[in-house]
Amino acid sequence: MKVLSVVGARPQFVKLSAIAADFRDNDVEHVIVHTGQHYDPMLSDVFFRDLDIPAPDENLEVGSGGHGAQTGAILAALDDVLLRYVPDWVLVYGDTNSTLAAAICAVKLHLPVAHLEAGLRSFNRRMPEEHNRVLVDHAADVCLAPTSAAVAHLMSEGLGARAVNVGDVMVDVLYRTRDSLALHGPSKRRIPEGAFVATIHRADNTDVPAKLRDVVNGLAAIGAPVVLFAHPRLVAKAEAAGIRLGGTNIRVEPPASYPELVQAVLDSRGVITDSGGLQKEAFLLRVPCTTVRTETEWTETVELGWNVLAFSSDEIVTAALRPPPTATDAAPYGIGDTAPRVRATLLERLPGR
Ligand code: UD1
Repeated sequence: MKVLSVVGARPQFVKLSAIAADFRDNDVEHVIVHTGQHYDPMLSDVFFRDLDIPAPDENLEVGSGGHGAQTGAILAALDDVLLRYVPDWVLVYGDTNSTLAAAICAVKLHLPVAHLEAGLRSFNRRMPEEHNRVLVDHAADVCLAPTSAAVAHLMSEGLGARAVNVGDVMVDVLYRTRDSLALHGPSKRRIPEGAFVATIHRADNTDVPAKLRDVVNGLAAIGAPVVLFAHPRLVAKAEAAGIRLGGTNIRVEPPASYPELVQAVLDSRGVITDSGGLQKEAFLLRVPCTTVRTETEWTETVELGWNVLAFSSDEIVTAALRPPPTATDAAPYGIGDTAPRVRATLLERLPGR
């Protein structure tokens, strides 16, 4: 079986690491295509290095741009690559512009598409990620869903026959990284004791200056140290709007590598974020999370009491300083065996079998 993975943004490199390791150990021919959507070394290269991912076979180097320009550039560049490799499966990950472009390109060339992390819904049609994931699920031949809630969404959209609950591949990577930190010692870059870990990068929070100012004011009003791992989008938008990110209780740092991030969450008092992955990682490490959004795709984290949605600065402060949640041993995202389940599903559903 030959699988071609298309990745381009930070969360996809994390997911790819578990898939690439499993494919390597089980003789699956694996071609890796990097679209170049994320090109900063701290958003890209360090993930390949720290998570032991083989260097991409192809890099499309599309870089930044508006949604149309970025998606279109990937779409145009991928045609030749897919025709050169002719894989049994094109595997796409998550909900970025790279995911959408790769799925459209593959279906146009009649190549089977598998979508990892299928069936998630925020039901917020203003989010670019929501457009991407809905369109990709409907284009895909197999929808590899991380949870039973995701399968239910797919069923309600008439996609039940192509849905398989394989668990969440982030669990595989997170547990492996956590265990490696425990075995080899903590990463060098540490946060101050009792600090919060924060990340903010979604367009809804960064692109409207008044909104961004309110979020930053919320982080400043917490009164405890906050380490803000700043995504380039956040830095660029804050600078353009004349908003100072640090200087108060907020310590601004460059983005963390994956082991550094896991270490920081483990050391922290709580997480404040608008990242999908980080909400779940906080829950899996049993660290309380405050999510700076009006909704989440990872509803299980909220239902189990480990995640609270907060949008205004006041809500952020109240949520971050809430009492600790009740302990739970629930495992809605699986036990960390998703990569082999993805492989088994792709083999079983190999077109022509
Ligand atoms: C993208 C994904 C989002 C994912 C996130 C993880 C889409 C629509 N969004 O958001 O789902 O959660 O990645 O980080 O695909 N930039 C740099 N250097 C980089 C990459 C980006 O400076 O290496 C800056 C550029 O100013 C760029 C902006 O960040 O215009 C936005 O980048 P983009 O790739 O559009 O989306 P992200 O915000 O990273």
